[in-house]
Amino acid sequence: MYLESVDSTNSYLKNSSNNKPEEGLLVYTKEQLAGRGQRENHWESETNKNLLLSFIVYPVFLKADEQFILSKFVSLAMFDFLSQFIDNVYIKWPNDIYINNKKIAGVLIENTIKGKLISSSVIGIGININQEHFRKDIPNPISLKMITQKTYDIHELLHLFIDKLNNWYNKLLSGEIKKIDKLYLGSLFRYNEIHNFMVNDKKIRAKIIGIDENGRLMIEMENGSIEVFAFKEIKYCI
Ligand code: BTN
Repeated sequence: MYLESVDSTNSYLKNSSNNKPEEGLLVYTKEQLAGRGQRENHWESETNKNLLLSFIVYPVFLKADEQFILSKFVSLAMFDFLSQFIDNVYIKWPNDIYINNKKIAGVLIENTIKGKLISSSVIGIGININQEHFRKDIPNPISLKMITQKTYDIHELLHLFIDKLNNWYNKLLSGEIKKIDKLYLGSLFRYNEIHNFMVNDKKIRAKIIGIDENGRLMIEMENGSIEVFAFKEIKYCI
């Protein structure tokens, strides 16, 4: 479903909950007036330049503590999609896409939990395609065009991306969890390398060694001990 302009495609789907949208309904737009990112950030996108979309699924087969698998399948769909055009694509935990230490795409997942199950999940995705200039306060943005110097047909790319989303969601539905886990880890940014991170405003040097069953980052500290971090508890130094 196409919207000329909207505050945020995620908010649009979340607010239409009194007439429950059908499973898989996808909304895309050329312009968001109040695009939202993670950590209460704003998501910037010039009109008609990028992919901006959200879809809703009802993954009642997932328990609340299994919700990280949603981040994994979406990340892999984005990874797969972008790898058709460029090399060196990485998934930065939990679900950003990075190229050359710069962010090309992000995901905002908003789940509704009922009891122990996920009753609905609104998954919003922004992928920078043709935009060449970003506001100064956006940390490290990049777009496909900035890398390849080509201009892309947004509509064509939307269809290619939806194909990837369908493929990966079908893998999740058919229970290919091990495959999803393995490929996610295999594409993880800074996996198994020593880097700097910020924890409680303190710089540490450490190595990502995995993701635990709740989607937390497993880190090996310099002294060899292993610690796990949730989103917001650790920041990458980039
Ligand atoms: C992030 O990396 O901070 C998440 C960015 C998510 C942006 C997308 S754009 C489409 C959808 N609607 C929103 O308001 N946000 C998501």
